[in-house]
Amino acid sequence: MGHLFKRRVVLAVCGGIAAYKSAELVRRLQDHGAEVRVIMTHGAREFVTPLTFQALSGHPVHRSLLDEEAERGMGHIELARWADLVVIAPATADCLARLVAGRADDLLGAVVLASGAPLLVAPAMNQQMWKSPATQANLAVLRDRGVLFAGPDSGDQACGDIGPGRMLEPAAIAQQAGALFASGTLAGRRVLITAGPTREPLDPVRYISNHSSGRMGYALARAASEAGARVTLVSGPVQLDAPERVERIDVTTAQQMLDACLEHIGDCDLFIACAAVADYRPASVQEQKIKKQGDAMTLSLTRNPDIVATVAGLEHRPFVVGFAAETEKLREHAEGKLLAKKLDMIIANDVSDSRIGFNSDDNAALLLSPDGEREIPLCSKDQLARIVVEEIATRLPEPAPHSS
Ligand code: PMT
Repeated sequence: MGHLFKRRVVLAVCGGIAAYKSAELVRRLQDHGAEVRVIMTHGAREFVTPLTFQALSGHPVHRSLLDEEAERGMGHIELARWADLVVIAPATADCLARLVAGRADDLLGAVVLASGAPLLVAPAMNQQMWKSPATQANLAVLRDRGVLFAGPDSGDQACGDIGPGRMLEPAAIAQQAGALFASGTLAGRRVLITAGPTREPLDPVRYISNHSSGRMGYALARAASEAGARVTLVSGPVQLDAPERVERIDVTTAQQMLDACLEHIGDCDLFIACAAVADYRPASVQEQKIKKQGDAMTLSLTRNPDIVATVAGLEHRPFVVGFAAETEKLREHAEGKLLAKKLDMIIANDVSDSRIGFNSDDNAALLLSPDGEREIPLCSKDQLARIVVEEIATRLPEPAPHSS
């Protein structure tokens, strides 16, 4: 799977003979992992039927700005917001001129104007039209505005001319689209992160748990994904939505969290254990609700497996980062866990400070690794996560070759 994994691409097809090649472009974008939705202009529909694109993309084709049916499903503003990337292929000379003018009298123009996503344009036209001062001037304006271009290629043209103006091959356009998302410091890396608390049941209505909200772990998942990684998040019960493009696996107990981690650790480059895992669980889970018995009650607990230590002990282990939640002797205890659990890095947070740590928006941390340390002062969990991800990225060993 490529750099477009779970990226949402709007492919706009204009009316040119190269429109038939855009059917293959849908496939090539999907090969890179993209989800594709297609806009066809009136001209495009003269060359290829919408049914072709509907079958390939798995979604109805968006055709018109004033299509009541389409607006009831995904309207043009929604479509514009949905996109992580807009690709126009083929883009005719007329399309370039309309983009320069900022026209919004058709669906393509309106979506381009309403979208904040990068715009990648693959021009296709007769070589003389391509070379014309008007087209070249339009090109310069669009480049100036940050529009990206794929091609055109040079060679034999459908009209019999030879020269620049052929649409770039679909595989090359898809490659260029993928490259736009491949520049992050964790590009191409696979990352597994644990987050949130675990719940260890006592009986059908009670459990042992802690105050972890999952915010720190989810912020790390978001930061790693933004840095280009493919992220799997093994999450205890929390009230949060999974970040964009992150695969989330829900678990409840420590044992389930361990099982999920071992199932997904296979080809990961990096494991970050941010979950607040219960160290102990009730020795037995009662089938019926436990009844009150006298003034005192003793619970018998048994040790849970240590997830991060288990992963660090694997024969083919990824780079392993743990957290240390401490209420005293922050450095001393964190150093102890770094060594005892055989970690490559530990992020220590002083959870006695009510402004940070469990169930707060902010955090502060002492980052320790065998090659140095860094103090990260009070900041949002998102900021801290981005710093941690960048620190990890500088230490990650070269990637092992993946099978897919
Ligand atoms: O979720 P939030 O509300 O945003 O709060 C964030 C946080 C305070 C939970 C987070 O910043 C944090 O410190 N996470 C680790 C909590 C913890 O359990 O720390 P620990 O010192 O008890 O454990 C040390 C390390 O071993 C941790 O990486 C932990 O995930 C791991 N561990 C612990 C026990 C166990 N059985 N298996 C484990 O993998």
